Amino acid sequence: MNDPFEGLTSQIFDNKHVLEEDYDPETILEREAEIEAYRNALKDVLFGRSPSNIFIYGKTGVGKTAVTRYMMDALQYQVEKRDEADRLHVLFHNCNNDSAYGTLRAFINTLRSDDAPTFPKKGLSTSDALEEFYSLLDEISGTFLLVLDEIDHLAKVNSLLYEIPRARSNGHLDQAKIGVIGISNNYRFRDSLSPKVKGTLMEKELSFSPYDADELRTILSHRAEKAFVEDAYVQSAIALCAAKAAQDTGSARQALDLLSTGGDIAEDNGDDTVTDDHILAAETRVQRGRVRNKIRDQTPHAQLILEAIAQLEESQETPVRSKTIQSTYEQVATYWGTDPLSSLRSVQDHLSELKMLGFLSRTERNDGRAGGAYYEYELAMDADAVFTARKEIEEESTT
Ligand SMILES: Nc1ncnc2c1ncn2[C@@H]1O[C@H](COP(=O)(O)OP(=O)(O)OP(=O)(O)O)[C@@H](O)[C@H]1O
Ligand SMILES: [Mg+2]
Repeated sequence: MNDPFEGLTSQIFDNKHVLEEDYDPETILEREAEIEAYRNALKDVLFGRSPSNIFIYGKTGVGKTAVTRYMMDALQYQVEKRDEADRLHVLFHNCNNDSAYGTLRAFINTLRSDDAPTFPKKGLSTSDALEEFYSLLDEISGTFLLVLDEIDHLAKVNSLLYEIPRARSNGHLDQAKIGVIGISNNYRFRDSLSPKVKGTLMEKELSFSPYDADELRTILSHRAEKAFVEDAYVQSAIALCAAKAAQDTGSARQALDLLSTGGDIAEDNGDDTVTDDHILAAETRVQRGRVRNKIRDQTPHAQLILEAIAQLEESQETPVRSKTIQSTYEQVATYWGTDPLSSLRSVQDHLSELKMLGFLSRTERNDGRAGGAYYEYELAMDADAVFTARKEIEEESTT
């Protein structure tokens, strides 16, 4: 039998990992001003002083996490060279869906020696966890930087941010010094904190702006050299990824994703060069993926209602009233073997929610005295993208 994989080599990628999310870039490009501000905010650590609290703001994919990791490595390197600096311990935690207790528990488990039992998941309070955390910090001693990534997703954040900065002045910490680095893409995060927390934090604020096309091109070119086989891409393909991502979100993640997907498409087609056409195809594929994920996050009934509106859109019946949507939705639900929701009210609730999430647009109509005011809905995305996504989601659920 022939070996189907025999002789298969990649003509495109030399090291594809360089374009992936978990790759730590060894250089940070186009962030000189942010790095300098970061350096100033951190320099106390080098002189053996208490670190400042630092908050980093910026939209998704603009380098907040990457730059923070880079700065922490650089700081650690300097600390080791300087006598006046205390030993530095950097503790990273992604707060997504976590609580103050869970965060402390994660830190405690990192700090405890390998043969010590893990801190219990349940049964103790946040103050028990704080007490254990402080005693570990003092026992280990030195400077501790707590990086709380996606801090706006942390439940009961006030309790942590009130206690930790005051730990030394309240006598909970004697040996150890501690600073918090909070990372968030919600610029209003600070407003959500209680006044007394704002008063104790005294944080330094750094803001990362979206990248423009030139900056993205620099970042991508650097990565592309490592990721691709020599001559396996044209410069205009890089520029196109940069331009597309700059126009949309200014996210380096989005730009890297386009380039990597473009490479995949070229490879799948058996082509030996990534060109503009591959990037355009990648854009469609990435968008489809994004739509699919967004739809997958909706409840089954919300998905069926969305599919119904996509059908109405296709047969050019939109904009359409909720009553009509309801009857199409009932057919769609029956088609997929689901019992439809029976009240118009619950369909309307889903419509409002879908509108709020950007799936639909809504217009208010007024028929004067006869009909009164009512809403009409239409799809705010490509109907085909909805059908494709729905079909894939249904296929996944049956396999
Ligand atoms: N200036 C840069 N130089 C090199 N690579 C970068 C730069 N900025 C971002 N990247 C890369 O882009 C991707 C996204 O960056 P990062 O994860 O730091 O974004 P973020 O701001 O933390 O986004 P999120 O808010 O979604 O967590 C990563 O792969 C990162 O390595
Ligand atoms: Mg991040």
